[in-house]
Amino acid sequence: MTATVIAIDGPAGSGKSTTARAVAQRLGLAHLDSGALYRAATLAALDGAAEITGTAVLALAKSLPVRLNLTASGFRPEIAGVDVSAEIRTDRVTQRVSEVAALPELRVWVNQALRSAAAMHPRGVVMDGRDIGTVVFPDAIIKVFLIADGEERARRRLLQMGRSTDAGSVRRTADDMAERDRKDSSRAVAPLTQAAGAVLLDTTDLAFEEQVDRVVAMGRKVFS
Ligand code: CDP
Repeated sequence: MTATVIAIDGPAGSGKSTTARAVAQRLGLAHLDSGALYRAATLAALDGAAEITGTAVLALAKSLPVRLNLTASGFRPEIAGVDVSAEIRTDRVTQRVSEVAALPELRVWVNQALRSAAAMHPRGVVMDGRDIGTVVFPDAIIKVFLIADGEERARRRLLQMGRSTDAGSVRRTADDMAERDRKDSSRAVAPLTQAAGAVLLDTTDLAFEEQVDRVVAMGRKVFS
């Protein structure tokens, strides 16, 4: 069965996951964070792969396995059955995730995992990432491309992680995000780009509730 999907894509720290989670809750849908799977694969590779190649990381991800496991509170990233929700957000994973996510073999496997997970939810899913509207679900019923000013994204990410938002920290985080966006946008396979038919939503001056409301309003036309 084909899943009904709201696809939310956008650059680093644009608020995709928090927005997707809130939208899913309001519309009674499941939330799937595709970045969590790339992050979990990266963590597995950093801890266990002899080299970061498509063949090595894919074999490791399949054998451990790396997966998004459906629990009562939603999809949880796991490695060999262990919850890695916190560890996948550490700087050492963030610094290397774009390199791992550029491996074409891994992307094919992740896409299959995302499509099967979505198929388990007949009512529909809200999935966020970089290529959901372009590659994973090009027929998604609603597509949103979320953007925000670089320094504002950095500030929000630092607040989310409970860190200081002094000028230096904001600048460093904004630089790191810009570098990750550059890698994600310039890779050969499934680069970050606004999908055809995607609604562009700039959240720089929007309160969180407002950005959620905008997507929920689009969703209400489809999910009653
Ligand atoms: O939340 P944040 O913006 O930091 O990123 P994320 O959604 O957790 O994704 C982490 C990384 O995974 C991205 O920088 C991409 O390299 C990769 N990714 C991807 O290539 N395709 C996706 N659909 C989702 C994430």
